[in-house]
Amino acid sequence: MSWPRVKVNVSPLWTELEQLAQISDVQPPAVTRILFTANDRKARAFLKDRFAEASLSVREDPAGNIFARWHGEDAQAVPIATGSHIDAVPFSGRYDGTVGVLGALEAIRALQRSGWRPARSIDLVVFTSEEPTRFGIGCLGSRLLSGSLSAEQAAALIDSEGKSFEYVRRQAGCTGSLEDVRVRVGHYAAFVELHIEQGRILEQKQLPIGVVTAIAGPAALRVELTGEGGHAGAVLMPDRKDALCAAAEIILAAEEAAKGSGSPDTVATTGVCRVHPAAINSIPSKITLEIDVRDIDLGRRDQVLEQIQRAAHAVGQRRGLATEVAVRSADSPGRAGSKIIHAIQAACRHLGHDYLSMVSRAYHDSLFMAQLAPTGMIFIPCRGGVSHRPDEYTSPEAIGVGVEVLALTLVQLASDTSENPAS
Ligand code: GLV
Ligand code: MN
Ligand code: MN
Repeated sequence: MSWPRVKVNVSPLWTELEQLAQISDVQPPAVTRILFTANDRKARAFLKDRFAEASLSVREDPAGNIFARWHGEDAQAVPIATGSHIDAVPFSGRYDGTVGVLGALEAIRALQRSGWRPARSIDLVVFTSEEPTRFGIGCLGSRLLSGSLSAEQAAALIDSEGKSFEYVRRQAGCTGSLEDVRVRVGHYAAFVELHIEQGRILEQKQLPIGVVTAIAGPAALRVELTGEGGHAGAVLMPDRKDALCAAAEIILAAEEAAKGSGSPDTVATTGVCRVHPAAINSIPSKITLEIDVRDIDLGRRDQVLEQIQRAAHAVGQRRGLATEVAVRSADSPGRAGSKIIHAIQAACRHLGHDYLSMVSRAYHDSLFMAQLAPTGMIFIPCRGGVSHRPDEYTSPEAIGVGVEVLALTLVQLASDTSENPAS
């Protein structure tokens, strides 16, 4: 293997991360960027300009996934891909996802500057809505690409304002049919994603790189409770069907279920509680809860998921509420491909960086890309393991190391055209 001499320029990348962070619905340092809002569209345009400056050919599919291609020298070879997301959960930070997009761009620019040319084309993918904020289900773009979510299911997703995914994507300028988003297995020869760890293991062990071997399986539940509204002063306590009080019991039951699973790897979070009509002097009549449940063990995750569903029905029944419980998504844990793991490890060894093999407890588009191609992830440390918070931080130095490792991983994956994946 002959390695190009890659010099990563962190300074322009750092500036681009800062510029992207400014495109947000809230004041810095917090970032909020929700799918297909004005700021999400502005951020997409910002990226497309940066991609064009790097002479990448840009296209967008009907779901809004963006593909920026560096054409390889072997037009017959199956391409490889890298990338991540730029949508940001409300009041989060500036590095989640964006490091894997702008970092990949800098990896490509550094490789271009080195004079190296890929045999396989390299697609830099910006996935639509990795975060579940708007439609209650994460990784929309990569789910559609992999066929884990059908075009019909995606089109019918409804946001909290009653707008469908089909409607908002068309409003955002996406054209064509969602049926055309799915690609076949073997469409890519490899996929690799650079991401902040979102945990504190690398920082604690003072290691610059995590090589992801598996991704925990996430599930999302939606619970809708309908009780009876009324005047907060006039309706006496025995006569009430307060939907928020029922929700409170269910939230605690979810916490208990995860804590009682017997493993610290089980986690449950009620991250959404929408109250109707949300007035201090009105009894809450309708509640929507969204509950996120994860584990690296699928059987245990599903047991906890069932326990929470049973608890929701039992609470609703006891309190005389109409209760609807829906499993919005329940995904199996994903495994990284050994070829990609080895390529990341070889890049680390060549560059003299220590690394740790680790499991990703957060989910990523890689979970779905792994259904299409051998997939791997490169983690870099973030301060205190903090993520989905405005104080999320990873240093320019840490990002620089991650980008170098990504660049040399891409070199290996895009040089070797000896075998094309079975389609
Ligand atoms: C992705 O942001 C996740 O929730 O793991
Ligand atoms: Mn995230
Ligand atoms: Mn992310």
